[in-house]
Amino acid sequence: MSDLFSKFDPLIQQRDELLATGLTDPFNLVMEKVESPTVAICNGKRTILLGTYNYMGMTFDPDVIAAGKQALDDFGSGTTGSRVLNGTYGGHKAVEEALKDFYAMDHAMVFSTGYQANLGVISTIAGKDDYIVLDIDSHASIYDGCALGNAQIIPFRHNDIEALEKRLKRIPEGADKLVVLEGVYSMLGDVAPLKEMVAVSKANGAMVLIDEAHSMGFIGENGRGVAEAQGVIDDVDFIIGTFSKSVGTVGGFCVSNHPKFEILRLVCRPYVFTASLPPSVVATAATSIRKLMDSADKRAHLWENSKRLHAGLRQLGFELGSKEPQSAIIAVIMPDLEKGAAMWEALLNEGLYVNLARPPATPAGMTLLRCSLCALHTEEQVGEVLGMFAAAGRATGCIS
Ligand SMILES: Cc1ncc(COP(=O)(O)O)c(C=O)c1O
Repeated sequence: MSDLFSKFDPLIQQRDELLATGLTDPFNLVMEKVESPTVAICNGKRTILLGTYNYMGMTFDPDVIAAGKQALDDFGSGTTGSRVLNGTYGGHKAVEEALKDFYAMDHAMVFSTGYQANLGVISTIAGKDDYIVLDIDSHASIYDGCALGNAQIIPFRHNDIEALEKRLKRIPEGADKLVVLEGVYSMLGDVAPLKEMVAVSKANGAMVLIDEAHSMGFIGENGRGVAEAQGVIDDVDFIIGTFSKSVGTVGGFCVSNHPKFEILRLVCRPYVFTASLPPSVVATAATSIRKLMDSADKRAHLWENSKRLHAGLRQLGFELGSKEPQSAIIAVIMPDLEKGAAMWEALLNEGLYVNLARPPATPAGMTLLRCSLCALHTEEQVGEVLGMFAAAGRATGCIS
């Protein structure tokens, strides 16, 4: 009898060995109560949340919550159908309108998750004879989209403009090509040089898709992302985003000015062959997106938080993923998984939750403690966080 699970044996063993040391399982934490975007109760203890993607703190916004409750009352708990059958309600159209207004673009298509947005758009537009040139550190959903469409994939070194250009020039003449980039890379929190990369892509005749999952709402004058901040948003063919980060709920989307964009609704399998988002979710998303258009003060405070945490951690002696704070993500590089897990647990015991990230999600085999800031973290909370890092870092020997 075959054991199709045998390929997981090394991972099972590594996990068992780690837990045998008495460590809390870092991938099985329960949020017993969530009090606000920045505080939860974990293991019965008040815990500052510094490992969520709740960048703009919209999850407890009273208008967002009211919109969700109203939609639940008016439209029920779910649509029980695909967008192309019975699953398009007024709320789905309203959130697509909100996205078009937010990005000032002609078309918006909402998916059930951001993962499905990448999977669907990439696999549908780039097929077996097409070429996708992508940053090697791209998110799993981008790689899975490439695999589903069976396109020829050509990765290039992370954020390397010359490497991108070289790969583009090697593609056979006449072939259709798509360049896929991210605004913010979520593991190290660094930003792509989109100005140069979009120019190089266009000069070589490629269409460009940018995943702005970790920049929407925060980066750019209107929160449209890194493409806006670097002045190239009008040259980008597709922007992919998610409702699961700054928007504060769940769902994914693609916005575009391409004149033939709407045909995707009939040919994109991860859009057609799955149920649409519940009415309460699209109502919360639409309300949140419209409020994010008018959130310049929150964006400014989030930048202050990011700078304060980055400077404080560096001063304590931690090695960080980027020299300067470039986004709301500050990654602390750990020497190995054992030390990383010990530090993660020490922080939790102090009353701080961060993300422990490890390969294959991380680049170059790194173990990271990823801190993601929220616009609602107060200056005082950032100070508390630094105190906890100092104590946990000394207790585990990560800093002296
Ligand atoms: C860059 C990037 N793209 C897409 C996604 C998927 O988003 P969702 O959580 O909506 O599936 C993520 C999620 O972490 C992401 O980091």
